[in-house]
Amino acid sequence: MAKHLIESQQFTKELLFKLFKRAEELRISPSDSLKGKVLTTLFYEPSTRTRLSFESAMLKMGGQIMGTENAREFSSVSKGESLADTIRVIASYSDAIVMRHNEEGSAEKASQVSNVPIINGGDGKGQHPTQALLDVYTIHKEIGRLDNIKIAMVGDLTSGRTVQSLCYLFGKFSGVQIIFISPENLKINQNIKDYLERHNIKFTEEDNLEKILPTIDIVYMTRIQKERISPKDYEKAKGKFIINDTNLELIPKDARIMHPLPHVEEIDISLYKEQNDPRVAYFRQAENGLYIRMALLEQLIPTN
Ligand code: CP
Repeated sequence: MAKHLIESQQFTKELLFKLFKRAEELRISPSDSLKGKVLTTLFYEPSTRTRLSFESAMLKMGGQIMGTENAREFSSVSKGESLADTIRVIASYSDAIVMRHNEEGSAEKASQVSNVPIINGGDGKGQHPTQALLDVYTIHKEIGRLDNIKIAMVGDLTSGRTVQSLCYLFGKFSGVQIIFISPENLKINQNIKDYLERHNIKFTEEDNLEKILPTIDIVYMTRIQKERISPKDYEKAKGKFIINDTNLELIPKDARIMHPLPHVEEIDISLYKEQNDPRVAYFRQAENGLYIRMALLEQLIPTN
């Protein structure tokens, strides 16, 4: 694998399965193979799962962590320092950097000046490759395959970086069918459609969630990202597509509901069902992020 992880297209099928296998081993028996190594988490946008699961992964692998959860305020960017200078300096203190930034393309820019691995933890409306990695790991674990799956991707498909990164990974598999379901003002981008066509992935765009739910293996819900769109667009889009206790019953028994989280009103399932219905997979999905990130850090950080 390349030194840096910027976009999900970088994963080969072979590497994905190698990481799945290693994640399963590490789940049972953590290794201290990263002892003496330092991971910096540099986050310019809020995060719960990505930052903390990377930090937990590094600690469980015997390494150490440092960083900031609010780099816009608590790093020297607030004094006007450029991203390039910030990265050059942090790279000299670290063995790898996980960065989340509000600007698309920022991870790529950081990789150009870093002599240690840059891991893209989300760059604006761009990509979130480690989310896509944990998503395909979860699908494989829950459904048992990545070829020949039918998945509905629902919600903010325009600025949803998790959806975009996941679509790029589906391009590596065969027989995948994607149904995009979004508010009229947040449809999937043309560049993703072009990519899927080039990779022979079938897709359709629908607007009736209830009609689609009985036919799918996975429903991948996403949040309408209020922070990335105008108040007018948010009002138009919010609450259009929701999974609740009623339409949950339309979903096949062996299908799964996934969500990169955090969720707001697009998931409205009672606590009892969330805790007991095996179709609700999004908390297992978040937990899988820990083990697959352990495997990824071991893959990316040189140890000799
Ligand atoms: N899925 C995800 O990226 O979650 P966080 O924003 O909490 O990191």
